[in-house]
Amino acid sequence: MKRGCFITIEGGEGVGKTTNMEFVAALIRSAGKTLVCTREPGGTPLGERLRELLLDPRYRGMAPDCELLMMFAARAQHLEERIRPALARGEWVLCDRFTDATYAYQGYGRGLPLAHIETLERMVQQGLQPDLTLILDLPPARGLARAEARSTPDRFEREQLAFFERVREGYLARAREAPERCRVIDAGQDLDRVRAQIREALQPLLEAT
Ligand SMILES: Nc1ncnc2c1ncn2[C@@H]1O[C@H](COP(=O)(O)OP(=O)(O)OP(=O)(O)O)[C@@H](O)[C@H]1O
Ligand SMILES: [Mg+2]
Repeated sequence: MKRGCFITIEGGEGVGKTTNMEFVAALIRSAGKTLVCTREPGGTPLGERLRELLLDPRYRGMAPDCELLMMFAARAQHLEERIRPALARGEWVLCDRFTDATYAYQGYGRGLPLAHIETLERMVQQGLQPDLTLILDLPPARGLARAEARSTPDRFEREQLAFFERVREGYLARAREAPERCRVIDAGQDLDRVRAQIREALQPLLEAT
């Protein structure tokens, strides 16, 4: 059986990833695909425990390498327990954040060597890459204002604006390096416009399968 498609939604804080998950899911399901919706860090019981630790503001002294390894620890579990089995059954997988977030936050944001991330990516993913990555792009001040209106800031949301500027640059660099996989969408537009562009980005995959 042909493996299912793997789609990820990426971008900085408050750009609208979670808001658009249901819309993307509805497009995929209405094309008759069986879909698993999930998120990172998390997506499994163990991964969600790791997520709680990663986001907890009490661990503001977390070593950057600890953060990086916990991200990939959660990802390894997620791939083994949910993503690979679903794709192998021919189901589609839609994930709110994946490895591009690790490059953007731990690589560009924290300044960890990209080569370390590449090593962990090879080890954990063994060549598996998303078929399509939607990168929602927005100036960080606007995204943070949206996120702030929503809930108390987590450990990442307490970072300085300069950190989020680097994260944004990281995402845009990733998009330039993999233009066939990544679609950058201006998340500053009305939700209707954002959704029209998401639909357009998804269309070729939905038609091809
Ligand atoms: N295009 C848009 N225009 C205006 N507001 C939006 C738009 N997209 C999302 N929002 C609002 O911005 C807020 C943050 O959106 P959302 O939670 O989806 O972001 P996120 O990318 O998942 O953030 P996080 O990185 O914190 O998980 C929500 O209140 C949402 O309703
Ligand atoms: Mg979200």
